[in-house]
Amino acid sequence: MTKHIVIGFLGCGNVGSGVWRLLEGFGDAIEHRAGLRFHVKKVLVRDLTKKRDVAFPADVLTDNPDDVLTDPEIQIVAEFLGGEEPAYKYLLRALGAGKTVVTANKVAFALHWHELQKAAKASGAGLYYEAAVCGAIPIIHSLEESLQANFIDKIYGIVNGTTNYILTRMSKNGEDYATVLKDAQKLGLAEPDPAADVEGLDAAYKLSILASLAFHGRVPFEDVYVEGITRVGAEDIRCGQDLGYTLKLLAIAKRKGLDVETRVHPTFIRSDHPLANVSGSFNAVYLHGHACKEMMFLGRGAGDMPTASAIVSDLERAASVRKHLYPTFENAPNPRVTLKNNTDWQCPFYIRMLAKDEPGVLYRIAKCFADQGVSLAAVQQKGEQANGRVTLVIITHTASEKAVQRAVTSLDGEIATLKSIIRVEEE
Ligand code: HSE
Repeated sequence: MTKHIVIGFLGCGNVGSGVWRLLEGFGDAIEHRAGLRFHVKKVLVRDLTKKRDVAFPADVLTDNPDDVLTDPEIQIVAEFLGGEEPAYKYLLRALGAGKTVVTANKVAFALHWHELQKAAKASGAGLYYEAAVCGAIPIIHSLEESLQANFIDKIYGIVNGTTNYILTRMSKNGEDYATVLKDAQKLGLAEPDPAADVEGLDAAYKLSILASLAFHGRVPFEDVYVEGITRVGAEDIRCGQDLGYTLKLLAIAKRKGLDVETRVHPTFIRSDHPLANVSGSFNAVYLHGHACKEMMFLGRGAGDMPTASAIVSDLERAASVRKHLYPTFENAPNPRVTLKNNTDWQCPFYIRMLAKDEPGVLYRIAKCFADQGVSLAAVQQKGEQANGRVTLVIITHTASEKAVQRAVTSLDGEIATLKSIIRVEEE
């Protein structure tokens, strides 16, 4: 016998339209396979007069959130508003009223996970968020369930499609950042205000969620180190390529005992690493667990139908389970009780500078690093002399972040000017 589930949408942009279309086009298959039929009763929108590419029945659209949040018939609320507010407030109200929530909202979720989960537990409602991280890739469900038998110690994610698209074009065609960004905006691949993507914030929210699940301890968003791609130059990408590296905006989470490090920044990885070939707007998550070993998930991290795929799968899951489950955290509710956030991480570094082309210069530069206990793995002088200076690229052995920062600040400006530092991950 078919189980009928009444749902309400909060928001109906690209993703909401995708969910509507998927439920329309795939509803019979879901009913046939899972015995479930979803009925969208109300859809909250900002502007009732806006032209939409989905023909909603006249009584479905509303601009009053209460029509969704207080209707006793609505059992599941699917949220696509994005951003912290008013979404967070609405989600709390929905959960408080005993309605299960399915959300694509990484910001509200990463910032208020504990409060949302508490509200869900209190009313017995479900809280599902597969679509909040990497669109169609089932990484949340995999971490919550399929990989439970693992101690996961490492995650490397390409979790932002916009920046991966930009870096891919810069790497393949040698184009500069500003040109590619403009083009990406024209193509609709980057937002008119691209800050959240290019400054790395979008990736940091996602990493906070992934690391919390993988490490069974809340890793707050504020503990994630964030550096975006706005200062990345085509020259560094080229120099890295010559040394066998590809540049990616990586979301990195590592755990060693109780020490955790979480960081988002441009990173050189070996060009033969599986992540190096993840190009365009694709997302990927590469992780290591003590039993599963290395594993990589690849797929589309954004877009109406890929995100709808995750949302509708969550709707099915939420409507089928007998009892909703919530992740347990060793350190909740105080996020800093057990896991310790380490900010002096160790990795090799790529350093580019302009140096005087004279005897003794290399010795003096090397001494700045040696004085901080930083060992050099490779030094390359590149190109022609200009104004008496040449480009010098140094790759260090694994070194402490703080020691490298001290070494570069101790460089004598007379002999060398720092142009860029990029962290390297050797796998
Ligand atoms: N703006 C994101 C991206 C998708 O470029 O991947 C939504 O998180």
